[in-house]
Amino acid sequence: MKVDVSSHLYSLPIKNPLVVGSSGITSTAEKVKKVADAGAGAVIMKSIFEEEINLQFLDEMRKLEVNDANLEFLDYYDYELRKNALDAYCEELKEAKNQVSIPVVASISCASAGEWINFAKPLEEAGADALEINAMFLPVDMSKTAADYEKLFVELLTKLKAELSIPVGIKLSPYFSHLPQFAAKISKKVAGITLFNRFYNPDINIHDSKLITGPVFSSPGDFYNTLRWTALLSSAVKVPLSASTGIHTPETMIKMLMAGAENTQVVSALYLHGIKHIQAMLSKLEAFMLENDFESLADLKGRVKMENGLQNTFQRVQFMKYFGSGSSMIDI
Ligand SMILES: Cc1cc2nc3c(=O)[nH]c(=O)nc-3n(C[C@H](O)[C@H](O)[C@H](O)COP(=O)(O)O)c2cc1C
Repeated sequence: MKVDVSSHLYSLPIKNPLVVGSSGITSTAEKVKKVADAGAGAVIMKSIFEEEINLQFLDEMRKLEVNDANLEFLDYYDYELRKNALDAYCEELKEAKNQVSIPVVASISCASAGEWINFAKPLEEAGADALEINAMFLPVDMSKTAADYEKLFVELLTKLKAELSIPVGIKLSPYFSHLPQFAAKISKKVAGITLFNRFYNPDINIHDSKLITGPVFSSPGDFYNTLRWTALLSSAVKVPLSASTGIHTPETMIKMLMAGAENTQVVSALYLHGIKHIQAMLSKLEAFMLENDFESLADLKGRVKMENGLQNTFQRVQFMKYFGSGSSMIDI
């Protein structure tokens, strides 16, 4: 018997729920073809980063001495840099679309609210099946409130929805003070929400007191926060969810689907195990469904509810069980 593992990503039908997330693995048409041939359900191309273009521009400004005479050139150079980066991205996207039959989602990461539309429209015209917004506004500006940050997202998504006809999804960071309310606020403006983006993590070298970069890749144990919020949001709001961060094993993929995710985005596990891991994960998912009489993903999706009350009680009971007076579960 064959099980039906088809699902959706940002309202696009996908043949299976394993989506290769935005990363170096998806940066060119050639790489997109490789992951499509390896069996992925969909692919999200590496983001085009406004910051990267800005850094290139700053680099050039450092080399040149800025004065009235070359100000106009620098303006032109900035425009050219943006255009070249965007053109190059669109070429890879068009080529990827020619080479594969699975959905190809473009991704943009812009630092300023104004640039998003200028980047988004050409990607739609180049044939992107959907657009994922990699929104990395880390709320650290003390002069802004949480509501100010949320407003940035709402305005941005309203604009994108009005201008584009392809579906727009958003990949969020975990740093929101009331995620269910915020998700409800943006739910009518997006075709789906991805939980969560993973920032490069800072670390400290204690021997020279310097900041260093933490691990680039997630670990198999990094999925719990995504699992919690996937379960909570899938009960609280009606917006399709894509799970991301720490999905290294077929078991974790199954947990995300049971918590209510439509699909799972995988990146670090593919860097660590190679793209053959795509088929290994999918085969295990199908075997699990067969063994447990799940004919389709619809039977599996959202089976485990974690509504607010249950969640609180569950947490309290677990703490009492492990750390309450007289507990012998964890002895130190
Ligand atoms: C090397 C590398 C490059 C990445 N580049 C991007 C990117 O361009 N855009 C983006 O939205 N996310 C990017 N990510 C984040 C991943 O898409 C993903 O959200 C994150 O790694 C968590 O998933 P994982 O635990 O499966 O790695 C990158 C991750 C890695 C490891």
